[in-house]
Amino acid sequence: MTTPALGVCYYPEHWPEDWWDRDAARMAEVGIKFVRIGEFAWSRLEPTPGNLQFDWIIRAMDVLGRHGLKIVFGTPTATPPRWMIDKHPDMLAVDAQGRKKGFGSRRHYDFSHLGYREECARITRLLADAVGDHPALGAWQTDNEYGCHGTTYSYSPAAKQGFQRWLAEKYGTADALNQAWGNVFWSMEYNRFDQVELPNLLVCEPAPAHDLDFRRYASDQVAAFNKVQFDILKTKRPDLPVIHNFMGRYTEFDHYDVAETLDVASWDAYPIGHLAVSDEPDDVKRQYMRQGEPDYQAFHHDLYRAVGHGRWWIMEQQPGPVNWGNFNPDPLPGMARLWAWEAFAHGAEVVSYFRWRQAPFAQEQMHAGLLRPDSEPAPAYHEAMRVAEELTAVGIAGKAAKGRVALVYDYESEWAWDVQPQAKGFTHGAHVRALYAAFRKHGVDIDIVSPSTTSFAGYDIVAIPALFAWNDALRTAITEFEGHLLIGPRSGSKTENFSIPNKLAPDLPTNLLDLKVLRIDSADPSVEVEVKGGGGAVRHWRERIETKANVVMEDVEGWPVLVNQGKLYYLGASGTKALIQRVADYLIAEADLPTLALPAGVRCRTRDGFRVYVNYNAGAATLTPAKDEAGYVLGSSEMPAAGVTVARLATVG
Ligand code: GAL
Repeated sequence: MTTPALGVCYYPEHWPEDWWDRDAARMAEVGIKFVRIGEFAWSRLEPTPGNLQFDWIIRAMDVLGRHGLKIVFGTPTATPPRWMIDKHPDMLAVDAQGRKKGFGSRRHYDFSHLGYREECARITRLLADAVGDHPALGAWQTDNEYGCHGTTYSYSPAAKQGFQRWLAEKYGTADALNQAWGNVFWSMEYNRFDQVELPNLLVCEPAPAHDLDFRRYASDQVAAFNKVQFDILKTKRPDLPVIHNFMGRYTEFDHYDVAETLDVASWDAYPIGHLAVSDEPDDVKRQYMRQGEPDYQAFHHDLYRAVGHGRWWIMEQQPGPVNWGNFNPDPLPGMARLWAWEAFAHGAEVVSYFRWRQAPFAQEQMHAGLLRPDSEPAPAYHEAMRVAEELTAVGIAGKAAKGRVALVYDYESEWAWDVQPQAKGFTHGAHVRALYAAFRKHGVDIDIVSPSTTSFAGYDIVAIPALFAWNDALRTAITEFEGHLLIGPRSGSKTENFSIPNKLAPDLPTNLLDLKVLRIDSADPSVEVEVKGGGGAVRHWRERIETKANVVMEDVEGWPVLVNQGKLYYLGASGTKALIQRVADYLIAEADLPTLALPAGVRCRTRDGFRVYVNYNAGAATLTPAKDEAGYVLGSSEMPAAGVTVARLATVG
């Protein structure tokens, strides 16, 4: 499917049945095409064990279907009912301090608990049989937000047994495990797999390879959990897409792996809530408190396009104030429209608002919907309606254009630098996002790519910052790449088993890059060392390198910062935004990449022969028409606050 559409999340079990028809009629009036239901309804679908009550939800599907709406059916496995805990008391997850989590909210299950996994298979099978042939069914959603509320890791007996089995399969013998983890250090050697502990409640830190393997294990459990449901749903309806709704800035499991058993990736976009709980500086938080940070959404759109192998949705789009920040600002008028347009520009197939009507009860009663609790339209209702009309008028279809710049994003690297920061706050994601923002300032289309990518053909620039360890695919891809390649800092500084490589970082053949990282100088982020000639400063992380490569930038203390050997550039430091911008600008100039002169706070992306501009400012901005554009089909060069302008490209379509 390539024509974008709107959706909404709806909970028929929250409202009297005689409201459903009017609700569905109004959804259709707004121009909504997809309605997600079901994902928290287990206590109504099976109030007591084996007592299946599916009639009501089938009636809800009938009503929605009568109004031409397509249903996304969510499996209810994120909210096991109370009786399930009586049946499986040991299915509750245990936190790192050894405390069992309780019933009374949601996501109270342990991914390692095979009994619960079987219960999930059972309810999924029953639901697939009951609703799988319903004519209004358009897609499935598995569970809800894997890992939300810190639920990927559990330190339960089930997790310990599962981890031991996983290790036995991976290493075969205890000796091999001892060797891989470096257990001779501090006499940590094991004789048997059943002696291996989880990496919590130790006297001090575990071996980094122990910690990393536990994270790999936990990630595999999420993927295995998803696969069980995927297989059942696909067996029932091979033609319907299976989707999961991932989250923003969430890294505890490998999303690429989980998406191996999905047809479409989706994520839940809460721009204002995410900015409020982020580590952005206070001035950025204030400037964008009603809009969200201008690159945050786009980064995730591009990430989930990669995770979904090109197919992705927004399953939940913030419509107004949320309830889960310390403070929950009201969006600037127009933002619920802007966010949807921006997602479509990045290739979203569907943008689905969360939720239809604000619930007057329970945990999320302060969370806005498209309707107020009194059923009158909230501002986003009208904005969604406008988006639906505009989508038809503009006729955008097709796919997001292939980017000119690719950034490798890797979950394992996120875990590795969390296991062993060396500089507090040094993360893979922060490096990727800083580069992402620096390239995007110039209106350059960017793709995020996975570390198992085998070819970078077609890209002008590829960046691989803070990569934990090389794999064979990536080594081949960089060896064959003919464009400009930016590597580092810290990339290739470990082996898969979390040791320093024999050749030292970045562990590349000398014909590609003759360079060794000899040691690391890390400092509190308030310490900045200026980079000579052109601004920017090294901050947080600095590598003492030995190289025959050409020095492009060095700091005032004479440490090389950016070096190159042919088209391969190595960055030996992290830095201020100004430094990262300078590095991106340098690469863009060297690669002779076309750029756009965007006003501050304005961003853009191309899809299907259209360029979509979004204005994240609280004030107006003026666009300079680009040479490859053949006029505007929505909006104009004068963009109001939260404005959207769509240009048709002259060269395509
Ligand atoms: C999401 C979740 C929804 C709802 C929403 C509120 O994380 O999937 O169920 O809780 O947040 O913003």
